[in-house]
Amino acid sequence: MSLIFEAILTSATSDGTTHIAPLGFRREGEFVVLAPFHPSRTLDNLRATGLAALSHTDDTRVFAGCLTGRRDWPLMPCERIACGRLESALSHIELEVARIEEDPLRPRFLCRELLARNHAPFPGHNRAQAAVIEACILVSRLNMLPADKVQREMDYLAIAIDKTAGPRELEAWGWLREKIAAHREAA
Ligand SMILES: Cc1cc2nc3c(=O)[nH]c(=O)nc-3n(C[C@H](O)[C@H](O)[C@H](O)COP(=O)(O)O)c2cc1C
Repeated sequence: MSLIFEAILTSATSDGTTHIAPLGFRREGEFVVLAPFHPSRTLDNLRATGLAALSHTDDTRVFAGCLTGRRDWPLMPCERIACGRLESALSHIELEVARIEEDPLRPRFLCRELLARNHAPFPGHNRAQAAVIEACILVSRLNMLPADKVQREMDYLAIAIDKTAGPRELEAWGWLREKIAAHREAA
C-alpha cells in the first residue's frame, strides 16, 4: 500500500468552469494517481479535459462543505492550466492526465505534475482538523454504514473536537452533525 493524502481536487469542466470535490491521491513514481468512483462529475471532467489541480488547505470547512451542499469556495486561476484552484490553499499542484487505467468501478488517472507552488507555511497538525476529515468520510458513507457505528465513531472524534477545535473546525463539525441527524430522521 502507498501513502494516501486527502486534498481538494478542482477539475476543469468542458464548458470552462471548475468543479470542486475532496479526493484522495497517492504518488506512484513520477505520477500523481487519482481514483474517482464511477459515476461522478470528477471522473467525467478528468476524462473530458484531463486538467485538474490539488489544493492543500488547513480550512477543513472546505471538505465538510463539499459534503453538505456548500461547494462555493473562493477559487483562483491556475498558472499553467485553464482550471481554478482553492484561494485558501497553503500549496497547490497542477495536473494533466497522462494515462487512464480503466476499471468499471474506479478507473485510475495517472497524472503528470506540471507545477507546484507554496503560498503559506504549514501551520502544524491539529487533531480537530483530522477529526473533521474522518467525520467527512463517515458522512460520505452514510448509506453504507450502520447508524450505531456512525454514532460511536462521531462520539470518539468529538473528543478531539472538544479539546482542540477552533471556530472553523467547530463550524465544519456542526455541518457534519446536521447532515448525520437529517439522514437519521429520513431513515
Ligand atoms: C477526505 C475525502 C476523500 C475522498 N476521496 C475520494 C476518492 O479518492 N475517490 C472518490 O471517488 N471519492 C472520494 N471522496 C468522495 C468525493 O469527494 C465525493 O464523492 C464527491 O462528491 C465526488 O463526486 P462528484 O465528482 O460528482 O462531485 C472523498 C471524500 C472525502 C471527504
